[in-house]
Amino acid sequence: MGGEDQLLKIAQEIQHCRKCDLSHTRKNAVPGKGPASAEIMLIGEGPGYYENEQGLPFVGASGKFLTQLLTDGGIPRDSVFITNVVKCRPPGNREPQEQELRACSAYLDKQIEVINPLIIVTLGRFSMARYFKNVRISKIHGNASWKNGRLIVPMYHPAAALHQPNLRPVILEDFSRLKSMIEKEKEKRAAISDEASNQDDATQLSFF
Ligand code: URA
Ligand code: SF4
Repeated sequence: MGGEDQLLKIAQEIQHCRKCDLSHTRKNAVPGKGPASAEIMLIGEGPGYYENEQGLPFVGASGKFLTQLLTDGGIPRDSVFITNVVKCRPPGNREPQEQELRACSAYLDKQIEVINPLIIVTLGRFSMARYFKNVRISKIHGNASWKNGRLIVPMYHPAAALHQPNLRPVILEDFSRLKSMIEKEKEKRAAISDEASNQDDATQLSFF
């Protein structure tokens, strides 16, 4: 099965999921959106009002700002995969609870496995907590780290910057560096695969 079909299958499972109580109050589950070939995956917190209405991630005020952050940084929104740690709206936009995060986590794991992105961008503390323990976003925002063999960049949640105007230039600056991080990562991977194929050549030559 190709990547797109695998993502579709995961999305269908999510739409019928009853693994936690958020299934009782949701209107539409929000599996996520973007191509299976995405190099960047962004992980937010959970659907809000408009996302729950439309079944799509980041379509409200935070979503508009996120689109601007990506576009200003030279990254077309439709080239990235956008999802959340919980796929159903917590009522009244309350925080997702521990058992909901746990129940939903396998869907996100599967999406990451299928997409295999070069970089994961976490938006806000619940997605950051998947990779970083006991850290403050104010200390590590915008800095890439290796976690389980993948590059993770924790960012402020766009909603935080909408509520705290002093964070706006900070999040804009962090997103403006994302594209060059990806280019660097691609160059590094290309160099590694060149080296590997040179080694293959060397091994083959040694037979003669
Ligand atoms: N905030 C989120 O964390 N996710 C969305 O999809 C929308 C707003
Ligand atoms: Fe299932 Fe996740 Fe929705 Fe809970 S939030 S019902 S685990 S899809």
